[in-house]
Amino acid sequence: DQHAVNVECPKVANPNMSPNIVIGNPDELAKKKAAIRAAGMSSLQVIADFDMTLTKYMVEGRRGQSTHALLSQGSSDYDRKRQELFDLYYPMEISPLIPVDEKTELMETWWGKSHALLVEGGLNIENIRNSVERGTVGFREGITEFFEILDGENVPLLIFSAGLADIIEEILRQKLHRVFPNIRVVSNRMNFDKDGNLIGFVGKTIHVLNKNEHALEMAAPLHDEEGHAVASNGNGASIVKGRKNVLLLGDHIGDLGMSDGVAYDNRISVGFLNENVENWLDTYSKAFDIVVLVSSAVSSKSQSLIKTS
Ligand code: TMP
Ligand code: MG
Repeated sequence: DQHAVNVECPKVANPNMSPNIVIGNPDELAKKKAAIRAAGMSSLQVIADFDMTLTKYMVEGRRGQSTHALLSQGSSDYDRKRQELFDLYYPMEISPLIPVDEKTELMETWWGKSHALLVEGGLNIENIRNSVERGTVGFREGITEFFEILDGENVPLLIFSAGLADIIEEILRQKLHRVFPNIRVVSNRMNFDKDGNLIGFVGKTIHVLNKNEHALEMAAPLHDEEGHAVASNGNGASIVKGRKNVLLLGDHIGDLGMSDGVAYDNRISVGFLNENVENWLDTYSKAFDIVVLVSSAVSSKSQSLIKTS
């Protein structure tokens, strides 16, 4: 039951446009593609970041919102406080000048404060539904088709996000017109009381620079031997078992850590470089097998030009 794997790298539809795909080492990529193809679909798993990887960086001319950013908790005071944190910390997140350990601490602080504000300011399930309805969020071109191909071939897709699991699942519900049984979400998961009010988060916080530490949770079971829910962010479970080839999609260097829990044979990594292109391109093209450039300058045009075939 082995199908040939067709993992083509994204192509620029119009060669006259600025090139927006960068492949650091074409020979190595060709080898990985051949190995993955030879092993077949039954050996493949896909691990994808969510915000600005599966979703668009620009949505109809506006900056796309992350799961955190689109969430309106029904208190303008608290929404403003979280926005102020974003304005302070996001430039640090994307800065190439801050050393990793220093940045890790900053990100821990940001996530800690942001989650605390969500609990303190109040949030209920209804806010989540409404926020997603109103949010500036959309999947990249080709993503729905990609999901369909993976589902058709029974290839598991793990969405691994430092955002909010409950929002991701609501976005999947609202933006896709069907349920994909092959998709699992590993992300910061909310804990609600019986009236649907947020009372806290489940497990350890996942931020953009500690995904590697959470990678093993993907293999964690959802239930213990007695059938009780396990307190873990992960719910990848057995669908990835024995799948030794990985296609990894991310927009942040830290996203490369998403596959740390997998003893893979081959991994093809695709990095979406959304901004600060000049500063990051060198690092990205060494770290990822394929870099997709979607700088703000070319984003609205290039969005429609990038096709995964
Ligand atoms: P990702 O792992 O799915 O890409 O999600 C992480 C993004 O969430 C990261 O780029 C920053 C963003 N974020 C906000 O927009 N607001 C917040 O309050 C926090 C904590 C993160
Ligand atoms: Mg991201």
